[in-house]
Amino acid sequence: MQIGFLFRELPLSVLGAHNVPWVPTRRQLIEHVMRLAKPGPGKVFYDLGCGDGRVVIEAAKRGSIGVCVELRRELIEQAMENARKEKVYDKIRFINDSFFNIDLGDADIVYMYLLTRVNAQLRPKLERELRLGTRVVTLDFEVPGWRPVQVERHVVAGMTRVLYLYVKGVSDA
Ligand SMILES: C[S@@+](CC[C@H](N)C(=O)[O-])C[C@H]1O[C@@H](n2cnc3c(N)ncnc32)[C@H](O)[C@@H]1O
Repeated sequence: MQIGFLFRELPLSVLGAHNVPWVPTRRQLIEHVMRLAKPGPGKVFYDLGCGDGRVVIEAAKRGSIGVCVELRRELIEQAMENARKEKVYDKIRFINDSFFNIDLGDADIVYMYLLTRVNAQLRPKLERELRLGTRVVTLDFEVPGWRPVQVERHVVAGMTRVLYLYVKGVSDA
């Protein structure tokens, strides 16, 4: 069973006001995310809905400039604390706002673990603002209408998890 199906079945009342619950990316998957996303020195890595910051922290450890965008204040505070502990606080910009309100024009990499419906809402913004060649990695949920350049399946704790890699200018052409 794919985790996406479980997620999709949750009623909005359970998901709360933000419509996407905080479900962190499993630590075992982060290596795979990094391999597909290719963070590194000089690369700007956004996690849209960064939760406790675990993915953006790994990108910062690999030399990227991280951007951690999170609506929930308690989570962004947790992300800041985690970044301090991991000694990458200075390499990450923390934004306590909706990702719909921030400009993505300087992104080299965008990571999203959201919902298909939310990816669909973000798609016009991604098409408008991302530069050619920007890598977009999503976990479990596709960007509807885009063609992934790579799809990987990994079994974690008995569940099949799916990673999608998109490249701006190729996937949306
Ligand atoms: C499934 S969790 C993923 C967390 C993190 N990216 C990770 O992979 O560990 C989705 C996160 O998106 C946040 N979120 C939902 N809607 C948002 C919005 N419009 N702007 C910013 N963050 C949002 C939620 O609060 C939640 O922390």
